[in-house]
Amino acid sequence: ETKPRVPVLWIHGLECTCCSESFIRSATPLASDVLLSMISLEYDDTLSAAAGEALENHRKEIIKKYWGNYILAVEGNPPLGEDGMYCIVAGEPFLKHLKESAEGAKAVIAWGSCASWGCVQAAKPNPTTAVSIDKVIKNKPIIKVPGCPPIAEVMTGVIMHIALFDSLPPLDAQGRPKQFYGNRIHDTCYRRAFFNAGQFVERFDDEGAKKGWCLYKVGCRGPTTYNSCGNIRWYNGLSYPIQAGHGCIGCSEENFWDNGPFYQR
Ligand code: SF4
Ligand code: SF4
Ligand code: F3S
Repeated sequence: ETKPRVPVLWIHGLECTCCSESFIRSATPLASDVLLSMISLEYDDTLSAAAGEALENHRKEIIKKYWGNYILAVEGNPPLGEDGMYCIVAGEPFLKHLKESAEGAKAVIAWGSCASWGCVQAAKPNPTTAVSIDKVIKNKPIIKVPGCPPIAEVMTGVIMHIALFDSLPPLDAQGRPKQFYGNRIHDTCYRRAFFNAGQFVERFDDEGAKKGWCLYKVGCRGPTTYNSCGNIRWYNGLSYPIQAGHGCIGCSEENFWDNGPFYQR
C-alpha cells in the first residue's frame, strides 16, 4: 500500500487502437484496477481525460521527473518515410515523439504486432516505411507483447509483473515474455486429437467443420504460432478463433500479413 505506483507513459503511432480496446476488457485483473491501483498512467493519447498542450507538457514533465524510472508503453509503430510525416502526434512526427519518450524510460513495452513486428502497416509494399519500434529504440530493454491485438489478460499480466515484482518478466530469444508466449497454439489446442487422428476440415461448410475437426487444411497456422489463446482464451476465457471455427492466422507472429495468403482456392 505504501509502494509508489510505477509511472507509465502510453503512446500511439500508426495503429488501429484495438490493443487499447483489448486492454480495457481485461477481467482478471480488471483493467480499471490496474490503472487505478497498480500503475500511474500519466499519459495516454486515447485514455487520458486531458488533451492538447496541457497533456503534452505533462508528458515532458513526467519524463524529467521520473527519468530512468518510468515505463514507456508503445502501441503502433513509427513510419520512417518522408522524415516520419505519415504519422503526426501533437504536431510532430511520431518518430520524434517516440525517441523523446524512450530516452529516459527504464524499459519499453511494445504492445501488439504493430510495435513488435510492424504488422499491417509494414505489409508489402509498406508505402510509409513503417518499422517495429526496436528498429528505432536500440538502447533500452524492450518487452514484445505481440498479437493483433494481444490478449487482454496478457497485457495486464505483463504490466502487473513489472508493477508487483519491480522487474521485467523473463523473455525468450525474440523478446516476448516466456510465460505467455512459451507455447505453440497447436500444443494447447483442444482440436489436436483430430489432427493426430488425421481428421481434417477440408471446407468451411463440410461435415468435418460441423464435427469440430482440425482446421490445418483450411489454413490454420497454430503449428507455427506462439501465443496463449489456447489456454487463456479471449473475453474472460470465453472463446478464441479456433473455437469459433476458424484457423489461427498467426496474428502474433512476425510478418503474419506477408506469410502467404490466409485463404487459397
Ligand atoms: Fe491494431 Fe493489431 Fe496494431 Fe494492435 S497490433 S494496434 S490490434 S493493428
Ligand atoms: Fe493445430 Fe490448428 Fe489443428 Fe488446432 S486446429 S490442432 S492448432 S492445426
Ligand atoms: Fe491470433 Fe491465432 Fe490467437 S490468430 S488470436 S494467435 S488463435
